[in-house]
Amino acid sequence: MSTEQTKQTNDTANLDHTLRPTRWDDYVGQEMIKKNITILISAAKERNHPPEHLLFYGPPGLGKTTLAHLIAKETGAQVKSTSGPAIEKVGDIASIVTNLSPGDIIFIDEIHRLNKSVEEVLYPAMESGVLDIIIGKGPSARTIQLDLPPFTLIAATTRIALLSSPLRSRFSGGVFRLEFYTTNEIARIIARSARLLGIVLPVDAAAEIAARSRFTPRTANYLLKRCRDYAQVHKVELSCGTVKKALALLEIDEIGLTASDRKILEIIIAVFNGGPVGVGTVATALQEEEATIEEVNEPYLMQIGFLERTRQGRKATDRAYAHLGYELPKDRQEKLL
Ligand SMILES: Nc1ncnc2c1ncn2[C@@H]1O[C@H](COP(=O)(O)OP(=O)(O)OP(=O)(O)O)[C@@H](O)[C@H]1O
Ligand SMILES: [Mg+2]
Repeated sequence: MSTEQTKQTNDTANLDHTLRPTRWDDYVGQEMIKKNITILISAAKERNHPPEHLLFYGPPGLGKTTLAHLIAKETGAQVKSTSGPAIEKVGDIASIVTNLSPGDIIFIDEIHRLNKSVEEVLYPAMESGVLDIIIGKGPSARTIQLDLPPFTLIAATTRIALLSSPLRSRFSGGVFRLEFYTTNEIARIIARSARLLGIVLPVDAAAEIAARSRFTPRTANYLLKRCRDYAQVHKVELSCGTVKKALALLEIDEIGLTASDRKILEIIIAVFNGGPVGVGTVATALQEEEATIEEVNEPYLMQIGFLERTRQGRKATDRAYAHLGYELPKDRQEKLL
């Protein structure tokens, strides 16, 4: 990772931390999930048992980690946070689950990156609350079973399709997909963040940031902070005009497309005649990682109807052509007549 990337990651982590809602009332939107989780938690409390295991999935920055922490707060549980790539060996997961206190929450981020042998240890732990340990080797090897204290596993992933179905099916509390936020919800999140950061933000400036936030709270908070920096350095008020200038400098356009979003679309349009083209080919042409394109860029491009995923590959839609100022290819124009 480059220094610049590390800096950005740290910055995002700090920002997430300061602005992360710590009360349900501050957690805007995702109403269906909130309702279901509230029932799950109340029922578990009545039974005097921790809530069942939960899986949250959806694009980055929509509030999966925040939900896990809110649930912990609501149930008064301690959270042990880890991530798929951090649990390398069976021993790593064994030491986590054997050090639990009753009612603890284990939060596993990026669960799609868990390796197979670790995953297999999780199955009985999740299903029956036991840990199977193999002692010895060869013919004298035997398995002993350890009872674990009751716990809740909360996992998050941006790539649900990469999860095996046996793992998915063990989230008995539910598998929840986080949705993109409405512009209205994003505006509320921006208003709260501005308040917390002590930023005076006129309504039209807030609306301008909201429109470019890709329906994503983390992006909204990030853009807000960058605009604040710009205003501070240039000693100007944080007006709508300032927002436009600050975001133009970041190469974020009026609907929130970044330079890399535009490059993806331009490659599909200009080099591959609008597609269909495989995501791997696009990634190679851009010298970008396929996973980044799939996790970060594509969900928003599909949400706004600029990109279609077909069996043959990715296709740029007519809207994408129009936004980027390209003329439709002949065969598509004929279809319109
Ligand atoms: N519903 C919400 N209401 C208000 N703010 C939110 C909400 N969801 C997320 N945020 C803000 O966005 C930030 C990012 O959210 P979070 O870290 O939970 O996303 P995530 O889904 O876990 O992302 P990733 O997949 O990258 O881990 C939070 O710190 C918080 O400030
Ligand atoms: Mg997260």
